[in-house]
Amino acid sequence: METTTPPSNGTADAFPKKSLEAVDIVVLVLYFIFVMAVGLWSMWRTKRGTVKGYFLAGKDMVWWPVGASLFASNVGSGHFIGLAGSGAASGIAVNAYEWNGLFCVLVLAWLFLPIYLSAGVTTMPEYLQKRFGGKRIQIYLAILYLFIYIFTKISVDIYAGALFIQQALHWDLYVAVIGLLVITAIYTVAGGLAAVIYTDTLQTVIMIIGALILMVFSFIKVGGYPGLEEKYFTAIPSVRAENTTCGLPREDALHLFRDPVDSDLPWPGVLIGMTIPSLWYWCTDQVIVQRSLSAKNLSHAKGGSLLAAYIKFLPLFIMVFPGMISRILFTDQVACADPELCKSICGNPSGCSDIAYPKMVIEILPIGLRGLMMSVMIAALMSSLTSIFNSASTIFTMDLWRHFRPRSTEWELMIVGRVFVLVLVVVSILWIPLVQASQGGQLFIYIQSVSSYLQPPVAMVFIAGCFWKRSNEKVRERSQLGFFLAPSVIELLV
Ligand SMILES: *[C@@H]1O[C@H](CO)[C@@H](O)[C@H](O)[C@H]1NC(C)=O
Ligand SMILES: *[C@@H]1O[C@H](CO)[C@@H](O)[C@H](O)[C@H]1NC(C)=O
Repeated sequence: METTTPPSNGTADAFPKKSLEAVDIVVLVLYFIFVMAVGLWSMWRTKRGTVKGYFLAGKDMVWWPVGASLFASNVGSGHFIGLAGSGAASGIAVNAYEWNGLFCVLVLAWLFLPIYLSAGVTTMPEYLQKRFGGKRIQIYLAILYLFIYIFTKISVDIYAGALFIQQALHWDLYVAVIGLLVITAIYTVAGGLAAVIYTDTLQTVIMIIGALILMVFSFIKVGGYPGLEEKYFTAIPSVRAENTTCGLPREDALHLFRDPVDSDLPWPGVLIGMTIPSLWYWCTDQVIVQRSLSAKNLSHAKGGSLLAAYIKFLPLFIMVFPGMISRILFTDQVACADPELCKSICGNPSGCSDIAYPKMVIEILPIGLRGLMMSVMIAALMSSLTSIFNSASTIFTMDLWRHFRPRSTEWELMIVGRVFVLVLVVVSILWIPLVQASQGGQLFIYIQSVSSYLQPPVAMVFIAGCFWKRSNEKVRERSQLGFFLAPSVIELLV
């Protein structure tokens, strides 16, 4: 499952206002120029006038952009904040989410994708329509997916990204987010999936290089892995309630699998329970599957999945460990255990572990590299947003618009797809006032938990549809009309 804890909403106290040096600004500007250049270049490279060209990048992608794009669509700014924050608060067990995804992305390429490819579909609701015959499942799923994208994915990405921009960069939120969205909209609208995948590839390279550099700096600061192992357990905040475990590091912080009986992440649940939402995310979610569908052939799609799986090994090292080191270096702030104190540090009385990653970026990197890390965070935000925009517009166009206007021309579909991206950009901007109003992000935690109830049933429908021949759609009118009507007649009535 890809839930990440949204960061705490905060005041500026945790981050002394360091003005950006000229070098940092040059790095940031270079980054934006690069992204725009790659976006524009990929626009000229593919035919964008057809449904296949625009929504599936011409079905002409080779394995490495596919793999990099799988990773970039998955990892948003919420990952940097949430994984590092959980690392600081409770150790490496949170990484189980990542390594679970690592196996599921392989399940996608080896089990599900051959079926989707031979069905010749563009969207996931379209697959269910072909598999079960009725229109109801398709329409329901299309609306559910759009709902999930707008209310869980876009909102949480904007939330995590906005807090980083606000707290660490001290930019005006509206100006920054609208600026970023305009840049992404240009190549997402004009270039379609091809532009999204190629820019995702660039963003992945920047994310990995930047995060590896931060990792090296943080391990040097703490004295390598032995230093981390030893000092994490002594990272106890100076102010805490006596005779409680509050503020003490967990004893099992360096265990990936926690106690099966009385811990918060029991390992049987991690292995079995977590796999179902994770299968939803990696094998049936349009945002992920669309990337694999754009591959030239099955071999390239498998290669992409393998690459993404290898990259998924990294978050433990580039996000979770730096978060734990942040607790060692800034114990009193990151691991604060007194509600009053926490509130004054980061504005959230229940804890400040979410500032772990931004804190490292601001405090330990030399100038120039700070600009690079800011690009990394912006890359994480932009790459997941563009992927969501593109996939949501694919679903809207192919499943909903075509349903209501079955005779629409390809040209009309292209216009509709592009206009819908612009609608999503506006929706994203509308999230900003809510982000600013939500204290401590409870709203966003709530949204995430609602969506985790919606996903497992969908995953089961796909698993049954793909691997159990006898599963079929319930015919609604049957009880009233008896068994005399042929299914196709019933289909007309529905
Ligand atoms: C904590 O426990 C110790 C001994 O177990 C006791 O002497 C001390 O008074 C306790 N402190 C508080 C604040 O309860
Ligand atoms: C996929 O395409 C590559 C060339 O790009 C080719 O070498 C490979 O055999 C193809 N695989 C399949 C399954 O057709």
